[in-house]
Amino acid sequence: MENYTITVLGCGVMGTAVISAIIRSKVEPFPSKIICCSNTESSSVKLRSKLGDKVEYSFGPENNKKAVSEANVIILGCKPYMFQSIYEGVKDVCKDQLVISLLAGVTIEELQVMSPYVAKVMTNTPAQFGCGMAGIAFSPEAESKYSELVMQLINPIGKAIKLPEKNMDAATSLIGSGPAFCLLFLESLIDGAVRMGIPYDIAKESAAKVMEGTAKMVEETNEHPAVLKSKICTPGGTTIGGLLKMEDAGVRGGVARGVEEAAKISASFAKKK
Ligand SMILES: NC(=O)c1ccc[n+]([C@@H]2O[C@H](COP(=O)([O-])OP(=O)(O)OC[C@H]3O[C@@H](n4cnc5c(N)ncnc54)[C@H](OP(=O)(O)O)[C@@H]3O)[C@@H](O)[C@H]2O)c1
Repeated sequence: MENYTITVLGCGVMGTAVISAIIRSKVEPFPSKIICCSNTESSSVKLRSKLGDKVEYSFGPENNKKAVSEANVIILGCKPYMFQSIYEGVKDVCKDQLVISLLAGVTIEELQVMSPYVAKVMTNTPAQFGCGMAGIAFSPEAESKYSELVMQLINPIGKAIKLPEKNMDAATSLIGSGPAFCLLFLESLIDGAVRMGIPYDIAKESAAKVMEGTAKMVEETNEHPAVLKSKICTPGGTTIGGLLKMEDAGVRGGVARGVEEAAKISASFAKKK
């Protein structure tokens, strides 16, 4: 696609993360225009202070229509429950643009009222810092025509992979909710360290670096976590002692079942509509 315009319908936390990443990246061909739409003037002003003058800003339902009429690519970044009313306001100017949806729980079929070309993205808040993750499912029409462009546009948030739509509820849990699950574990590490006398600031910095380093080690070695874990367990040592205590408390099952529960809740939202 050459000389194209991206319109972001709802540019809050996730919309801003995606657009900041695109602006920082060397996406080729780079969009010739980006329009960020929010609901209120105050959000529009805040956005300008974050993203600068390379982007155009608009707010309010009337301006959504103008912004969509100019768009070749629409990024949906509103809350899922807002989708229907925002769509009603712009449907007259939807003309088979590429629609990239960041919305949890709105299916490709539902999004296809806007266009046959839909990419459904599940990403997460670390995208704000360039270390997010995204799972992307495509409508068949979008897959054949736009998958390369979508992967290029979303990859700068950190990493993007293709997923079949049947895995999107699980991705909502693993990728979207995943940072909250990791934060619970991080908090627990900090609590244990503070209990044993390490000051909170030092415990927090150390625990965050331990999580970052461990994730890096998994990525770089491509080893199964169990293999890496066994290399840290000296026979009769501290690590195996700590791990067994955690296993006794059901940490593994608790975390795995938590991922399952969040995925089930995501699926139930779709059924309720
Ligand atoms: N946050 C997460 O952890 C996360 C993770 C994965 C996926 N998601 C998905 O990402 C999507 C966005 O979430 P978010 O956390 O980024 O939400 P958010 O920060 O609340 O952003 C929503 C945006 O929509 C705008 N908006 C509201 N009404 C509008 C209208 N009529 N026309 C145009 N724009 C309008 C808001 O503008 P105002 O500020 O002016 O109201 C705001 O910019 C959600 O669908 C969610 O499912 C979120």
